[in-house]
Amino acid sequence: MDRQQPGNMLVVGLQWGDEGKGQIVDHLSGEFDLIVRYSGGANAGHSVVVGETRLGLHLVPSGILRDHVLCVIGNGVALDPEVLFEEIDSLRGHGVDAEARLQISDRAHVVMPYHKLEDRLSEAALSAGAKIGTTARGIGPLYSDKANRTNAIRVHQLVQPGVFRERLTDIVERKNRIFAALYDAEPLDAEAIYEQFAAYAERLRPMVCDTAHLLHQSIANGKRLLFEGAQGALLDLDHGTFPYVTSSNSSAGGVAVGSGVPARAISTFLGVAKAYTSRVGAGPMPTELDDGVGQAIRDVGREYGTTTGRPRRCGWFDGVATGYSARVGGINAIGLIGLNVMSQFDQINVCVGYEVDGERLDRFPSDVDLLERVQPVLEPIEGWKQDLGGCRHWEELSPAALNYLAKIESLLECPIVAVAVGPERSQLLLRPS
Ligand code: IMP
Repeated sequence: MDRQQPGNMLVVGLQWGDEGKGQIVDHLSGEFDLIVRYSGGANAGHSVVVGETRLGLHLVPSGILRDHVLCVIGNGVALDPEVLFEEIDSLRGHGVDAEARLQISDRAHVVMPYHKLEDRLSEAALSAGAKIGTTARGIGPLYSDKANRTNAIRVHQLVQPGVFRERLTDIVERKNRIFAALYDAEPLDAEAIYEQFAAYAERLRPMVCDTAHLLHQSIANGKRLLFEGAQGALLDLDHGTFPYVTSSNSSAGGVAVGSGVPARAISTFLGVAKAYTSRVGAGPMPTELDDGVGQAIRDVGREYGTTTGRPRRCGWFDGVATGYSARVGGINAIGLIGLNVMSQFDQINVCVGYEVDGERLDRFPSDVDLLERVQPVLEPIEGWKQDLGGCRHWEELSPAALNYLAKIESLLECPIVAVAVGPERSQLLLRPS
């Protein structure tokens, strides 16, 4: 967070997404030349304020509002042209020319209508206990096709009409057979999809380039890069609470693969966490509070999904899960969001360990069935009962609030460098160096 500190930075979520990374990125984006998305797709969501209007964005990086910033959608992103152009058009309606400052990787993969259809059909076909609770944005099917290779369409193929038509016809034919057999679904019309996406391709073409090359050149020319993570580390396909995860590497490790920039080019790995825990969708969450306290966190923290509007599950800060994410991600600085949400409690509990079958477990388990059974070991911390919303400087935080931060730092073994005491730009307090 230090303005004087040179180098590139990664901002990544340490919990199950929705940590408020956008507030940190918004604050920092003025200090960087390029803002890069490297994973996930339209399942993510952040809002930006343009004049008097709050716009929800899913794909376009929030730095798009800064005139001097070039925004990049890297190869690891699931590119949904329909959503992208909705966002671009809505930004244009508010006087922001996003197309002029957006570059899209030719290696990114394209989310097609059959991915969204498959997402819905496959979730609907699962039994209640087996559902992932996806955002229905086609993310899982898209990344499955990418890994499977045969049915994937990359951006460089989309923008070549002949190549695109041939691949699409072939793929839709296969998808129709699969969907009919598995879900008794009506066939999709390849020609109609071609027409729709050929139009997107025309608009996309001027923005498409080898973004890895662009980023390397930018680094060589002394530009500063900010990498903006999507979701959070506990939703990472490899390191999260599998199978209740998203289908990309949303933890810090995904940055190198998803952008083509080696991790050693990044000096600050800023992990963002909430002062509590939230989760949307299915899967274990050891500190979940299914009671009035959980509801109070949801109400004050306005914990409803940006992408789906679903109420988020809420609970105490989980030092085991978040500490695990910080270690896996090599995090060297923490941004803590929503400290004000905890101001309402006389006493705040922090999860410092897990217990299962009467045994202490200090490690974050890989087996979700085990994680489902753990009981959090809670340590009570005295609350501060001070309305923090008006604080503008770190020094204004009360000793009890600072004590809470110190507890979290000790659990994450990492310094907190910024704290948000509300959602506004002015409510992000930087720790004096
Ligand atoms: P998918 O990414 O739509 O496949 O959803 C898989 C899981 O990740 C579900 O539990 C979603 O609720 C969750 N998820 C995906 N994106 C986000 C996000 O941006 N914030 C929070 N949860 C997310």
